[in-house]
Amino acid sequence: MRWFGSALARSNESAGRESEPVREECRSPMLAKAAPGLRTPKTVPPGFYFSGSPVGGPEFGILIERYRRLMRTNPVSRATDRERARMIVTLLTMVAALLLTPLSFGRSFVWSEQGKAVTRRTKMAPAKVPRVDYAKFSHRTHVGNQKLACVTCHQFPSKNWKDVRKGEAAFADIAEFPDHSACLSCHRGQFFARERPAPAICSNCHVANSPRNTSRWLFPSLGDVTDPAAQRRSVVPEFGVAFPHDKHLEVVGFNGSVRERNAFVLVSLQKPAEPPKSCPVCHATYQPQGKSGEEYVTPAPKTLGDNFWLKKGTFKTIPNSHAVCFTCHNAESGIAPDAKDCHVCHQLLGPDAGLKTDFAARLIAEMGITDAFIVGRWSKRISAGAFRHEGGAHPDLNCLSCHDVAAFNTVDPKTMRVPVRTCGGADGCHITATVDDGGIMNFEIAERQKNPAFICTKCHVVLGKEALPADHPAAIPTPAPKKQS
Ligand code: HEC
Ligand code: HEC
Ligand code: HEC
Ligand code: HEC
Ligand code: HEC
Ligand code: HEC
Ligand code: HEC
Ligand code: HEC
Repeated sequence: MRWFGSALARSNESAGRESEPVREECRSPMLAKAAPGLRTPKTVPPGFYFSGSPVGGPEFGILIERYRRLMRTNPVSRATDRERARMIVTLLTMVAALLLTPLSFGRSFVWSEQGKAVTRRTKMAPAKVPRVDYAKFSHRTHVGNQKLACVTCHQFPSKNWKDVRKGEAAFADIAEFPDHSACLSCHRGQFFARERPAPAICSNCHVANSPRNTSRWLFPSLGDVTDPAAQRRSVVPEFGVAFPHDKHLEVVGFNGSVRERNAFVLVSLQKPAEPPKSCPVCHATYQPQGKSGEEYVTPAPKTLGDNFWLKKGTFKTIPNSHAVCFTCHNAESGIAPDAKDCHVCHQLLGPDAGLKTDFAARLIAEMGITDAFIVGRWSKRISAGAFRHEGGAHPDLNCLSCHDVAAFNTVDPKTMRVPVRTCGGADGCHITATVDDGGIMNFEIAERQKNPAFICTKCHVVLGKEALPADHPAAIPTPAPKKQS
């Protein structure tokens, strides 16, 4: 619809007319309250937005309004048939003019190589600008195209940091959306758009937008905050957290903190024999089985038998707030990056690497899972969707025997794949020299060789029906040659 407005502006200009002033009215009374001193522009800039109702170019808008009034069967302003016919003809002419504008030829002067002005006919490409969705803020537009620094919108710390976490738990954080002033220089039009019940752009930060309800969503950095009164908005994150594990293995392990607030109590709870201590500071077992009698996440059907059903203690958590990071990364300690240097930790994710995930959405429905954390983590599994951290001997193993964290680039998932050979570990475990030694990998590969339709279900949820990757058989140790006696 926007090209429509600009096309109209162009036809206005060609007729040598300025855009006409419109009645000054505050189109968004709420906003006037929120931002006193702000005014709707007195003149509608040429080529401005149609927002639901045709108010873009002033003339077109006035015309439509007059036409509407005429068509109303209101006795006071009832139009005669001739008036009505004249209006229709005028309207149709304008519409035709609008439709033809993009096809017309513009003339422009360019300098030829000899330095003479020549006239060139340039065909104007039909302006097919897709409608911008102002309900979906994108950092790619603002950080990528507009080259805006994070601080132009995100102020650190936000005014409300002492309110979101109480007492001891409070720390200087970014806990609120950017202010209106961060947007208005470029989006006056969208902020004052005639859209009901509120302009679309408001919904990026506000829950509803009525004079009664001016509340905002819970700012997403507050993953650790539970506030029943505040709603969370679900947005697909555009950023990944770049966390260099290798640089933290030593520092996070120490049992103390740079500041008084001790975020590392968890470390002291660790069994001394279990290296490295640092991992559980940030990754705890989610929904541990503990002493609970029920081992499944949701009630399993009685007829389950040996079939798969998700168990508790499958996933590890990942940090969901700034609490741990800002203990060390803050202005006081001087450890780079500083809390306000958002871009060092938050990096725009590249295009989807097209990695296969060992997950199927239908499982969530089948198992009646409603937990957003589980859905989020499970749908990101790229190695083994059925792997359970609390399963079998897994809790006794060093995290590093399966996760090569030094090689991680946390914004590139493929670098975080768990190599299949780790399923064999030092003791063979799931990968043994022969099938008879009991390795499940050996068994499943043998079954697959006998029957191409065999589905491998021990470690996989959906990948097990695909072709066997070469690294699986390659992980089987070649039996040592029999000794000659
Ligand atoms: C033009 C203003 C603007 C700029 C510049 C900006 N942001 Fe934002 N940011 C927002 C708004 C508005 C939201 C809330 C809407 C949303 O969640 O998409 C947001 C949300 C976020 C979120 C949570 C949602 C997500 O996609 O993960 C993160 C993280 C974030 N910003 C980080 C950054 C970083 C890092 C930079 C600098 C590289 C930055 N922002 C620059 C306005 C901005
Ligand atoms: C320096 C100018 C500038 C600032 C400041 C700015 N924007 Fe934008 N924004 C743009 C441009 C350019 C576009 C591309 C679409 C268009 O032309 O309207 C855009 C597009 C958008 C869109 C459509 C989806 C998208 O991101 O592509 C939304 C929503 C939006 N902006 C919200 C905001 C909000 C909220 C703020 C303040 C926190 C803000 N913008 C600050 C220039 C800006
Ligand atoms: C980029 C995020 C963002 C967008 C987009 C946004 N707001 Fe806000 N709004 C805020 C923040 C943050 C505050 C709180 C400001 C403060 O308390 O200093 C606020 C406060 C308000 C208030 C309350 C002011 C007061 O003093 O109580 C109103 C009303 C309001 N906004 C209306 C709107 C309307 C209408 C729109 C859309 C046209 C809109 N906002 C768009 C972030 C946003
Ligand atoms: C100070 C906090 C911190 C510590 C300590 C830490 N990590 Fe991480 N870890 C992170 C963050 C942040 C990410 C990135 C999460 C994301 O994808 O947003 C991550 C990602 C991971 C992932 C990948 C998760 C995925 O998306 O698949 C694994 C596996 C992992 N860490 C294992 C470990 C292990 C093993 C240790 C101990 C050696 C460890 N981490 C120590 C913060 C930490
Ligand atoms: C026996 C091997 C093994 C051990 C030991 C192990 N993990 Fe994992 N871990 C995995 C596998 C397999 C995945 C799933 C990876 C995937 O599919 O993306 C995983 C995933 C993760 C994830 C991502 C979230 C999730 O659960 O999907 C984190 C974080 C993680 N592990 C941390 C740890 C920490 C911390 C330890 C030590 C306390 C540890 N792991 C021990 C094999 C292991
Ligand atoms: C116990 C203190 C501590 C905690 C907690 C901590 N860091 Fe660090 N971080 C450091 C230190 C010290 C360095 C510098 C290491 C070096 O340069 O070798 C560092 C370095 C970094 C760097 C690299 C900076 C560079 O210039 O390359 C990033 C990024 C980073 N940390 C992110 C994080 C994130 C994200 C978290 C939270 C998930 C976190 N850190 C938690 C102490 C900490
Ligand atoms: C030291 C590293 C670090 C710095 C600096 C940092 N963050 Fe974060 N941020 C994190 C980690 C770790 C998380 C939790 C992981 C996650 O939610 O993806 C997080 C989460 C967030 C989230 C929630 C993201 C989501 O998708 O739910 C927002 C929003 C956010 N940060 C904004 C900011 C802004 C704005 C700044 C700059 C003022 C900033 N952060 C500075 C590490 C950092
Ligand atoms: C003991 C656990 C285990 C068993 C048994 C197992 N896998 Fe895997 N599989 C993994 C792990 C770990 C990965 C991720 C690392 C990798 O790609 O090598 C993986 C990856 C895969 C992938 C993804 C490869 C890619 O490039 O994306 C496919 C497909 C797959 N397995 C099929 C099978 C089939 C078919 C069988 C049965 C013959 C099988 N797996 C048996 C653990 C197992």
